[in-house]
Amino acid sequence: MDKETARRKIHDLSELIRQHDHNYYVLAQPTISDYDYDQLVKELEKLEQEHPDLVSPDSPTQRVGKDLIKNFEQITHRYPMLSLANTYNEGELLDFDRRNREGLAADEKIEYMVEYKIDGVSISLTYENGQLTKGATRGDGVVGDDVTANVRTIKSIPLTLPKDLIKKYGLNSFEVRGELYMEVKEFRELNERRLEAGEKTFANPRNFTAGTIKTQDPKIVAQRPLQIFVYYLLAENENLSSQSENLRILKELGFRVNPASKLCSSIEAVKTYCGELEEARENLPYEIDGAVIKVNSVRQQKILGNVAKSPRWAVAYKFKAKQAETLLKSITWQVGRTGAITPVAELEPVFLAGSTISRATLHNMDEIKRLHIKEGKMVVIEKGGDVIPKVVKVVNADDDYASPPAECPVCQSKVFNPDDEVAIYCENLECPAQVKGRIIHFAAKGAMDIEGMGESLVEQLVDNGFLHTYADIYDLKEKREALLELERLGEKKVDNLLKAIEDSKNQPFSRVLFALGIRNVGANMAKKLASHFKTLDAIVSATKEEIESVYEVGETISLSLKNFLDDEKHQPVIVRLRKAGLQFHDDVTEAKDNFFKNNNFVLTGSLNSYQREEAGREIELLGGHTMASVGKKTNYVIAGESAGSKLDKAKKLGIPVLTEEEFLEKLQEAKKNG
Ligand code: IVH
Repeated sequence: MDKETARRKIHDLSELIRQHDHNYYVLAQPTISDYDYDQLVKELEKLEQEHPDLVSPDSPTQRVGKDLIKNFEQITHRYPMLSLANTYNEGELLDFDRRNREGLAADEKIEYMVEYKIDGVSISLTYENGQLTKGATRGDGVVGDDVTANVRTIKSIPLTLPKDLIKKYGLNSFEVRGELYMEVKEFRELNERRLEAGEKTFANPRNFTAGTIKTQDPKIVAQRPLQIFVYYLLAENENLSSQSENLRILKELGFRVNPASKLCSSIEAVKTYCGELEEARENLPYEIDGAVIKVNSVRQQKILGNVAKSPRWAVAYKFKAKQAETLLKSITWQVGRTGAITPVAELEPVFLAGSTISRATLHNMDEIKRLHIKEGKMVVIEKGGDVIPKVVKVVNADDDYASPPAECPVCQSKVFNPDDEVAIYCENLECPAQVKGRIIHFAAKGAMDIEGMGESLVEQLVDNGFLHTYADIYDLKEKREALLELERLGEKKVDNLLKAIEDSKNQPFSRVLFALGIRNVGANMAKKLASHFKTLDAIVSATKEEIESVYEVGETISLSLKNFLDDEKHQPVIVRLRKAGLQFHDDVTEAKDNFFKNNNFVLTGSLNSYQREEAGREIELLGGHTMASVGKKTNYVIAGESAGSKLDKAKKLGIPVLTEEEFLEKLQEAKKNG
């Protein structure tokens, strides 16, 4: 096909798919079957692969990975919505201050604005000529959902602004960023009402807020007590000189600004004020998870700039996790896919940092011994941000502690404790809990990604004798009729499942390697091994030394690999997976085209956001190569701070040089599309 024909076909197909996307996602009225739609996308992908130069950034194929919400239009943010790096102690705050001072001229004085970090959902509001024109969620930071209709129902968000002030401050067109949230009391009451009505409850106020702002019916949003605090004003306007002044202007314009912010003239003053904020948190009617510290001067902010997705001029300071006391009713021992048996605390439900907690992790037997954990005791639990709650202390501990089960709680087989490990294991590889765990892992998102094959379906299929190993998954298509006999499995569900299983055969080798569930071989390690060895056969025949010569691969991993691959039980399973058509070799052309692929890079000087080795690994994961010295084959040089002779040589040879910022941009772009 000649270029012109390809261009036209790509254009027409893109238009057609966009129309179908619109019908499906926006109107929720599809006019084509899922199968036919997939065929169109496949055809477009094939054409684009053959003509990479014709791939436009707004092609429907470039949307993968962004979660589209039915009925919400997507909005590209005029200014990306950044996130903040975290600091956890005073030392890290001092580092932040030092980096800022190093980034600015020696005689510059730095003032900081300190604010609460509201634990809600960020929102971007656009105002044109004093009118609210758009409300958008963060999305992936670049593209978010248009939730204008919902935002308009929130009474504390002004729909129009005073004309005289717009004129006075030159704000004809600007954006405001803020945090939507729900007060804890309102959250609890609403959740209780939902519980009584038999409706789904929410885990915490933040989830409730996120669920509400993405509700498709603005009338429901209008009934929910959503609140906002705004904290950021963005405009092409030289007059906006500082964060403290911007907050003042926002307030004057009629926005809701959190009262607890303070301008501090030194990092010492910042530390003191953070302490005050932390103390005052107990009395707040809403959830916060720390403070945000921002360089006050907008001019200085611009000099300091951004690293990847967060500004250099601001950080979050996380407060210590909130704690609560409750009764440890009992301990459940859970059996995972490797047979490891881990203890879980069953607690008297208690409300902590926005949610009711009835279970917490106890890690392992060592932790139980260390903390003297025993059933029937009062324990202190802790939760920080999104992390799973954990037991940190026993109140009035004595010498006694809970003992591990003598047999597997699922299959009653013997348990054992390998010498070098704290975990105890069920010795029965056929233990239903292990079998299910392995299959769940195999089908999971980061692995073979078989949609529909989640925990409950795997349990059902194992319990009914359909699955014994993950290789059985690929025989299910011969058992369609029998599957239809199972509870909750209709024609549509079964057919979708069988299609997802077929599709999974296209997953690249690195995913297959990860899905096998080899101990110590996580998703990243599998990628590294796949890109180094290219085929499973090469790994099987590699010596221990060869495996350990791969960057970051040590003995633990090489032994795990050998143990797994040499095991007679695993070999027939792998043979069956091969026969089914899974990828056991790294198809090099499979990596999507990107800036790095097949180019040679030399890294020189020091980078702020990466160790050089790390940066090199990122490049290799994207199909690029790193070289030690600059030569004719070098395509690009990435020059960090105080780069020396290599940079000079690159200039002499006319080799393009990327700054760290440019490199990070390319990296972000490649990852997003990859
Ligand atoms: S400033 C470039 N200020 O925290 C400035 N963010 O991890 C970016 N947040 O997405 C944000 N309170 O949702 C800022 N006073 C505050 C904040 C705040 C809460 C959230 C916001 C942002 C996230 C950053």
